[in-house]
Amino acid sequence: MRVDSSNVKLRAFETEDVKALHGWLNDADSIALVGRTPVTYEQTVQHVEKKQKNKDLVLGIENEDHQLVGWIFLQNIEFEHGRASIGILLAPESRGRGYGSIAMRKMIDIGFQQLRLHKIYLTTRGINQQAIRLYQKLGFIIEGQLRDHAYSDGRYYDTYFMGILASEWSDYSGNGTSVTSMQA
Ligand SMILES: CC(C)(COP(=O)(O)OP(=O)(O)OC[C@H]1O[C@@H](n2cnc3c(N)ncnc32)[C@H](O)[C@@H]1OP(=O)(O)O)[C@@H](O)C(=O)NCCC(=O)NCCS
Repeated sequence: MRVDSSNVKLRAFETEDVKALHGWLNDADSIALVGRTPVTYEQTVQHVEKKQKNKDLVLGIENEDHQLVGWIFLQNIEFEHGRASIGILLAPESRGRGYGSIAMRKMIDIGFQQLRLHKIYLTTRGINQQAIRLYQKLGFIIEGQLRDHAYSDGRYYDTYFMGILASEWSDYSGNGTSVTSMQA
């Protein structure tokens, strides 16, 4: 069943959420799609701490029952260039139900409306069709294709560099506010 956007919340990613993140990172599909090797709990803690140190914006995704279903972040935030990259990982059992689309929309809104970024970008593996479809649906454009850039499970995969500009984002919280009317 698809979820309703109004029931999904982004909130601060807390220390007690690291345990869940450790499980998601070690899921076999996550390793294949995102390209990581299995990680220990300690490495997961360090991963989160590094993000906090870098001043990445790291948020938890909460479902209609106030349960954590994933995390999403803006990283490499460079205000002098008006850009940041975005990343997302959902709990395996919460994928394919619309949480990814909703959380991405909310985070892109934050990036463009509150942080006043000019561009949001990401990289994703060619094998990750679900992610690529999601990003294209949101308006991200493939700006570059890096050949045989990632190795997973016995073969090399291309990596896609994708981006969206604030001027191309017209889906502010799905509340009908267009870029044109915001600027008027
Ligand atoms: C990628 C991810 C964030 C997508 O979130 P999601 O909640 O599963 O995706 P949604 O249900 O919102 O679906 C988004 C779009 O993906 C596409 N999609 C969904 N399931 C799909 C599948 N099995 N195969 C191909 N495309 C699929 C559809 O186009 C869908 O849009 P639609 O519902 O309008 O048809 C999530 O699956 C995830 O965390 N995957 C593992 C980690 C990962 O890959 N992170 C991104 C790294 S770049």
